Amino acid sequence: MSLETLERDILKEVAAAHDEAALEALRVSALGKKGSISERMKSLGSMAPDERKQAGAALNLLKDKVAGAIAERKSALQEAALEQRLASEKVDVTLPVRSQPQGTIHPVSQVWEEIVQIWGDLGFSVAEGPHIEDDFHNFTALNMPPEHPARQEHDTFYFNEKPDGSRMVLRTHTSPVQIRTMLSEKPPIRIIVPGRTFRCDSDQTHTPMFHQIEGLVIDENTHLGHLKWALTEFCKAFFEVDEPKMRFRASHFPFTEPSMEVDINCSWEGGQVKIGTGDSWLEILGSGMVHPNVIRHGGLDPEKYQGWAFGMGLDRIAMLKYGIPDLRAFFEADLRWLKHYGFRALQVPTLAGGLS
Ligand code: DAH
Repeated sequence: MSLETLERDILKEVAAAHDEAALEALRVSALGKKGSISERMKSLGSMAPDERKQAGAALNLLKDKVAGAIAERKSALQEAALEQRLASEKVDVTLPVRSQPQGTIHPVSQVWEEIVQIWGDLGFSVAEGPHIEDDFHNFTALNMPPEHPARQEHDTFYFNEKPDGSRMVLRTHTSPVQIRTMLSEKPPIRIIVPGRTFRCDSDQTHTPMFHQIEGLVIDENTHLGHLKWALTEFCKAFFEVDEPKMRFRASHFPFTEPSMEVDINCSWEGGQVKIGTGDSWLEILGSGMVHPNVIRHGGLDPEKYQGWAFGMGLDRIAMLKYGIPDLRAFFEADLRWLKHYGFRALQVPTLAGGLS
């Protein structure tokens, strides 16, 4: 084969090489130890001096040409690869970052917010009180004097005795905030009190810390009809049913007279409770007309003022609304549970936008 033909063949193959690996294989086959050009170099030794000079120069020229062509092709391939990457990995840095929210809103927070929305719409404001209460606000002022039997039902957490013999308690209900509000605000009063409460009890539906919502209205002429209407409106909005059946059942609490427990109708299909349909009943709260002694302890004249109140378990109605079977899991901080029962962050419940 003539040197010209060899040159033409190699350069053609170099031009056609599609990637760096093919190029490297070509380099080896031409310029490697046993390559086509290297083989020809070996034959120089047996030539006459003149002939060798000429052939050697021609071979060196060819060698340089081939090496140059390979280097050129190599950088062309590299550049093309870079161009392709730049085109395919293009990012628009002016686009907004869309990160995936990771956390969820706890059902207690969600229901708390839903309840505040509903009662807020009815003209109620949110009141608060301390978790550590004195005996007066938690019991005595609520018409439960020291030897009152209802005190025993509360499974109270007591603090150590003070020098004067009195003992503070972890509040067993949100009702003491009724007294605190009456003592600090002028009627008319319309408040709800969402908050933590504490009792020494633990099973599937009880935890030592739980949440209640208290409601209190004090005015010169408010009556049982207002209470029934407001609680019915609340249930419609909270459970998202148009015509729930409500049952106001005579009951007894020391701080109300008369007292009623309120039930809502429900059905149990396939072990799942459904609120607002069916012929079964579920108790959801306690309520009544505020006892005159309570109004008096709140610094108001029961001849002039009357009122109504209610109290319900926030966790309990969260379980009912969202079908959560075990209360203890609420407070175990298990991320799998939170992922399952939690609510999307930034999706704040509103009456206009939907509560759940
Ligand atoms: N404080 C009561 C409890 O913890 C609940 C309750 C019942 C509150 C009736 C009220 C009420 O305001 O009127 O069991």
